[in-house]
Amino acid sequence: MEIRTLTPHIGAEIFGVDLAQSLSNEDFAAIHQAHLEHMVLVFRDQHLSREQHKDFGRKFGQLHVHPLNKQRQGDEAILVVKTTATSAYTAGDGWHTDVTCDEFPPMGSMLYMKEVPECGGGDTLYADMYLAYELLSDTLKSMLEGLTAVHDGALPYLGSYKIAPAEGQYPRNEHPVIVTHPETGRKLLYVNSGFTSHIKGLSRRESNALLDLLFRHIESTPRLTCRVQWQPNTLTFWDNRCTQHHAIWDYFPHSRYGERVSIVAAQRPAA
Ligand code: SIN
Repeated sequence: MEIRTLTPHIGAEIFGVDLAQSLSNEDFAAIHQAHLEHMVLVFRDQHLSREQHKDFGRKFGQLHVHPLNKQRQGDEAILVVKTTATSAYTAGDGWHTDVTCDEFPPMGSMLYMKEVPECGGGDTLYADMYLAYELLSDTLKSMLEGLTAVHDGALPYLGSYKIAPAEGQYPRNEHPVIVTHPETGRKLLYVNSGFTSHIKGLSRRESNALLDLLFRHIESTPRLTCRVQWQPNTLTFWDNRCTQHHAIWDYFPHSRYGERVSIVAAQRPAA
């Protein structure tokens, strides 16, 4: 297995692994370690059935069922990410961490791209939330410690995508604003413009101003990011506990198609 980094701190391409074959313990350990170190792993030229894609996911834990899949036909563990000339939106077209409205948000997601826009484009940006935290001043860091934010599924799914929940309401949960990664022990910034509605204990105006500052910090700091340029049969596996991503919809009216498997985290995000 060979690892070539995309940037010094986030993203790596992994060569010499066929994910359709059962992984040796040694390869699994190397991928696990690389995932913790580089956060975003890109595997090229993979030829996977849906079952093989899910099997790779299961190596890291229980498969996640996306709230939008509860009202859709088909395999509930596969989230179809499809954009065409008639799409009203493209999934993930804004900085976010996947499904932080859940009590146990995914520890990671594996997006397997099958069709890329024929005109080019359709890349995904990933941002390092350890570095986002480290670049804050000590004064702001200590102000954020101990704060709790509300993450609400209605914000993207109803507000942006206009999809009513299958029944009841979309999940809504609280997580610390600064969390500690359960495996690396490193601190990171854990609010995202996709799901975070407000910070508890602040007035609405204070919460909006603080979240706006943090969201701008992520949007306007290019050094936080790496960029994945997809090809058909690329699979990217990101650590959803310490990254955000943004799918770029720059290819209208062309199409893009991928399938995502996510893995439920074993622990709630915790300080
Ligand atoms: C997502 O998982 O948010 C979609 C990412 C992408 O389509 O690149």
